[in-house]
Amino acid sequence: MPSRSLYPHQWSWDSAFIAIGLRHISPLRAQTELDTLLAAQWADGRIPHIVFNPSVPLDAYFPSPDFWRSSTAGRAAGAPRTVQTSGIVQPPVHALAAWLVHLADPGLSRARGFLTRMYPRLAAWHRYLLHRRDLGGGGLVSVVHPWEQGMDNSPCWDRPLSRVTPAPARSFRRADLDHGSPEGRPTDLDYGRYVRLASDYRDRGYADGAGEFAVEDPAFNALLIASEYALARIADELGAAGSARQARAERLTAALVERLWEPAAGMFLCRDVRAGELIPERGVSGLIPLLLPTLPHDLAATLVRTMRGPHFGLGGTTRLVPSYDLLGEAFDPHRYWRGPAWINTNWLLEGGLRLHGERGRADALRKGILHTADASGFAEYVDPYTAQACGATGFGWTAALTLDLLHDRPAGRGNGVTAIKGGDRG
Ligand code: SER
Repeated sequence: MPSRSLYPHQWSWDSAFIAIGLRHISPLRAQTELDTLLAAQWADGRIPHIVFNPSVPLDAYFPSPDFWRSSTAGRAAGAPRTVQTSGIVQPPVHALAAWLVHLADPGLSRARGFLTRMYPRLAAWHRYLLHRRDLGGGGLVSVVHPWEQGMDNSPCWDRPLSRVTPAPARSFRRADLDHGSPEGRPTDLDYGRYVRLASDYRDRGYADGAGEFAVEDPAFNALLIASEYALARIADELGAAGSARQARAERLTAALVERLWEPAAGMFLCRDVRAGELIPERGVSGLIPLLLPTLPHDLAATLVRTMRGPHFGLGGTTRLVPSYDLLGEAFDPHRYWRGPAWINTNWLLEGGLRLHGERGRADALRKGILHTADASGFAEYVDPYTAQACGATGFGWTAALTLDLLHDRPAGRGNGVTAIKGGDRG
């Protein structure tokens, strides 16, 4: 679980990051983390964003299993019968995590048939995303809820969310405010819209295609592409040809550039599929494609410049990359994904900098992450200017990705992200 108080169940992308850290101290626990999550996969291939712990009281977290009703409302989509889950998804970091967990102890992994077990499930997961979620018809995946992309209240969602009629405040009770300060969390109006989108999706039996909210997000798609590269490495290891996956990852990179690159902003933007336009907000999500090995050199150089410029301030006004534009109207240094810096996005960018030959800048970012994680009590997120701790402390992926950065690696290898590059067998 990401946090005993605020998030007392198993979260999908948190588990992937947690496995990436755990592999250094217990490859077996890291394998178990992913095995447990994938045991809750739906028959249509989706990996749910939350797998609920049945021994946690219903009122400890909202929305709870009785809201999602996965085993009944999700029956047609193939939700599992015995375990309760949510019905939406989260960024596909899992194949990347599985490959890195394997590399940590290939002998143990082979002896336990870890990749043999993972591969068909991960392939089905990517198939679900690429076939059922290409709602814009351009080859990229759309998210249908801000919780799916993971950056819940990013200002990038304000415009598409403004069209959604919020569920009445009296119709649900938030549990997050029992633990977190309201200034650091999404607003009640945000929650009304989250609830409306999720209950409409549930009431359609979690069938894809008809929802009001559909957004192509650069980070979600970049993580899918990185995971597709990792699946190519996994296929090679298992003696299946990984070259088709490698080629698909390259095609998806070209589609990402074609549909989401905005030269005037010097970064990628989100595409509002329902309105048919790019969303003019700079979120950290638009920098994450830096982790792609076949990103054209000039685009990678532009992303590095944008990261260091006035909108994100890295190496100047900030030591970690903030979640949102420092100059944006909606910027708020303490409110969840509207400004604070997060460790997982910075870990991804550290890998991206290293991958594109920016060793000095990657080293400085690594130092900044390690210092901030320690000084903040492994906070969930921090004020990007002062590094003041916000949200939960003792947060799972903050600790796990710190472990990953601390782990000794041969010079120049960098963090795990660089292991997806063809030819690097770890
Ligand atoms: N991030 C969401 C929450 O805050 C759920 O995924 O509860």
